[in-house]
Amino acid sequence: MLSALTRETPLGATITAIREAIRDDRVSSLAGTLAGQYRRGSFNDSDLYPRARNERYARKLLHRDPLGAFVVVGMTWLPGQFAAIHDHAGLWGAEIVTHGTMHETTYFVAQSNGDRAQLIERGASFASAGSVGVISPPFDVHRFGNSGASVAHSIHVYAGEPLTATSFLPADGWHRVQKVRLSYDD
Ligand SMILES: [Fe+2]
Repeated sequence: MLSALTRETPLGATITAIREAIRDDRVSSLAGTLAGQYRRGSFNDSDLYPRARNERYARKLLHRDPLGAFVVVGMTWLPGQFAAIHDHAGLWGAEIVTHGTMHETTYFVAQSNGDRAQLIERGASFASAGSVGVISPPFDVHRFGNSGASVAHSIHVYAGEPLTATSFLPADGWHRVQKVRLSYDD
């Protein structure tokens, strides 16, 4: 009976650790916490991830802090599924690849007139399971997706709840700036 009484949700202790890292107010602290939790197997439970969708990658809200300090989101990416180039609504955070291989291209917004922006590529890298990326505006504009041959999963923590984001869609050598609403699938 004791085990039933003390049983926690799959992310119970992990949420406590994430809350402390958010309070610390440093991306390096949050990134270190996610890496440590990954090594402990905290992100192995398949219930943390939404069912895959054929149309686009899928997002599942795992935890919303009651005080609005952060959210934790699990994502599922079929092979070849990428998010458009985007920002994170001005929020900082971190993300960790937990299964599969992802690819990230980062950009610098060189100039923008509201409707259109000129982006300069800053770097590109593969991220295998256990790799952590930091989200640190204004240097958070990136394209992220599954470059591997199997389903990929990732866990994302934002210091707040991004309900909208800015997407940058390629157009004539520049990028068209578009506000998009973010939603959850499960
Ligand atoms: Fe992102």
